[in-house]
Amino acid sequence: MTSKVLRDEVASLRGQIARANRAYYELDAPELSDAEWDRLFHRLQAIETAHPELMTPDSPTQRVGGAPATHLPKHPHLRPMLSLANAFSDDELRAWEERNARLAAAVVGGGYNLEVKIDGTAVCLTYRAGRLLIGATRGNGAIGEDVTANLRTIDDIPLQLDGNDWPALMEVRGEVYFPAEAFRKLNARRERDGDEPFANPRNAAAGGLRQLDPATTRSRRLRCFAFQVVPIEGAFAIATHSDMLATLQRWGFQIEPHHARVANLDTAIARIAKLEAMLPSLPFGADGVVVKVDRRDLQEELGTISDREPRWAIARKFAPEVAITRLLAIRVNVGRTGALAPFADLEPVELGGVTISSATLHNDEIVAQKDVRVGDMVEVVRAGEVIPKILGPVLKDRPKGAVPWVPPDRCPACDTPAVRDPEEVMRYCPNPVCPGRLLESIIHFASRDAMDIRGLGEERVRQLLDAKLIANVADLYALTIEQLVALDRFAEQSATQLVAAIAMSRSQPFSTLLYGLGIRHVGKTVGLALARHFKSLDGLRVATIEDFAGARGIGPTIAAAVTGWFQDPRSAALIEGLREHGLNFSEPQVEIGDGPFTGKTIVLTGTLPTLSRTEATFRIERAGGTVTSGVSKKTSLVVAGAEAGSKLDRARQLKIEVIDEGELLRRLGLQP
Ligand code: IVH
Repeated sequence: MTSKVLRDEVASLRGQIARANRAYYELDAPELSDAEWDRLFHRLQAIETAHPELMTPDSPTQRVGGAPATHLPKHPHLRPMLSLANAFSDDELRAWEERNARLAAAVVGGGYNLEVKIDGTAVCLTYRAGRLLIGATRGNGAIGEDVTANLRTIDDIPLQLDGNDWPALMEVRGEVYFPAEAFRKLNARRERDGDEPFANPRNAAAGGLRQLDPATTRSRRLRCFAFQVVPIEGAFAIATHSDMLATLQRWGFQIEPHHARVANLDTAIARIAKLEAMLPSLPFGADGVVVKVDRRDLQEELGTISDREPRWAIARKFAPEVAITRLLAIRVNVGRTGALAPFADLEPVELGGVTISSATLHNDEIVAQKDVRVGDMVEVVRAGEVIPKILGPVLKDRPKGAVPWVPPDRCPACDTPAVRDPEEVMRYCPNPVCPGRLLESIIHFASRDAMDIRGLGEERVRQLLDAKLIANVADLYALTIEQLVALDRFAEQSATQLVAAIAMSRSQPFSTLLYGLGIRHVGKTVGLALARHFKSLDGLRVATIEDFAGARGIGPTIAAAVTGWFQDPRSAALIEGLREHGLNFSEPQVEIGDGPFTGKTIVLTGTLPTLSRTEATFRIERAGGTVTSGVSKKTSLVVAGAEAGSKLDRARQLKIEVIDEGELLRRLGLQP
């Protein structure tokens, strides 16, 4: 019988991995470093292998990753998008070759291909007849999100391929990434504006792809390297991975510039060591080297492990930089939503070329799990990530008498007793007029992604609050130049500029204002979705929970948070204040797609060869059409796929035009 201890450990590992996956894939806010995640995952795998009775079909080891976000149309990949196994040492690489040699002896000395492993986000680009048809994120490996419009803004992704030797239908896989310099600038700007910086370039890239507005994606200046062709229809006679990369380049893609073919594993290991030394200075985030069996016939022979990862490729990863220093104090920061986030004050220490004196501790549960105590020597990592993290204490050096940290039960800014929702790991200060929350919420309101009031950063907001010139964001609009010049560090010019910047922000669209108000769960995307659905602040203000049903990507949690916020009398007063100052309460409405299907009612029936129902609908709507479910005299067109049944019969009876997917794509201009 399996011991309870082991069963408990498995349950705890699964819980931690599931939460980390959700934070990473759905919230773009990782809680664990890759190394920590790998450690948990491999521990779970090891226990499950030794104790098969503990294996369950829903274990995270049985799937690739988290679920895609909900607001974007889903795109099923034509072939699964795999993940990569990791090797953390040269010995692990050798063991990998030995295992492969047992399945295909020719791999030894058969040649490998090396590419630097870019730390970005995987994308899948479907090309038909050399034209970009669909671009999607990886999602859970089987189903991703359709982000075609956003991917089309990336210059490295060709819309029409050069040459003519591409398979008729294929998927090109690659990595979208944020160039290192642009990432540093973006984060510096976010910090200056009082916005949360991105934890790493990967999240900035993933976030950039999942914008509702392609213009935002374009402004992020993302780039892309391609690394794989998956032929679906038509010939593709390429014998090696090296040739595949050369072919991708000839078609117009960018490929990882340090890629190289090596004759055997020893040469590979020597070259990997050189690459490792170069990684920190590359113009993009890189977290290892991918080693691939070069011959495609051997790749085929080796195959994949339960559709999760190929046997023919592995990522050689390097340990992140770690420093050890003393934990001086654990303090709590009050966020604008009232979230109480613990962070560590550290004895300054040098890590990856910069001096670190604080690190995030995320939430109380993580502090408890890691059991870090004030006075401990702690390990700090900064693995391609901007915000340093504490890995854990060095137990042998724990000072006598160090006690577990007890989270303060009151808000450090206003002394109100903290509350905790049993569903969540954070504690909150429930006081809506908490000065700590107020400060953060005004900083947020003025930040670039919200009302974009230049010159109103943390310092200035503090100053205005201290001088009692403002008590909420509406008061900003009543500030005068005379009031400001009377304050320290304000001159005539800076005061005039600030008043002008505040006045200008009045015309920001309602969606931006909504995001700026800092309602819990209302980020930029949700703000936009709500504004599009309700059209104006006055429409949203009177909405009941039921009215949220038709809004895309808005679930009951968000609906409850928003209606709850509007019911608060203080919110009503704030809104009236903003109204008096002439803020824009309405959203410019996006014109519904105009195109070849304007005014047409279209019915889809049967299974289409490449487009899913959601995608076909999305595309028809963008081209002006309306998709309905039943065929009637009002139907203009029926698109029929395999196993179309009674709807097709009825269309024929009514003599309604019937077309197939190929014709649909032609009319949409997606195929010649
Ligand atoms: S090959 C069939 N090659 O790493 C093999 N992946 O940890 C699947 N990545 O999802 C991937 N650079 O997003 C491959 N040159 C490269 C890569 C690469 C970055 C990413 C990719 C993949 C992840 C797996």
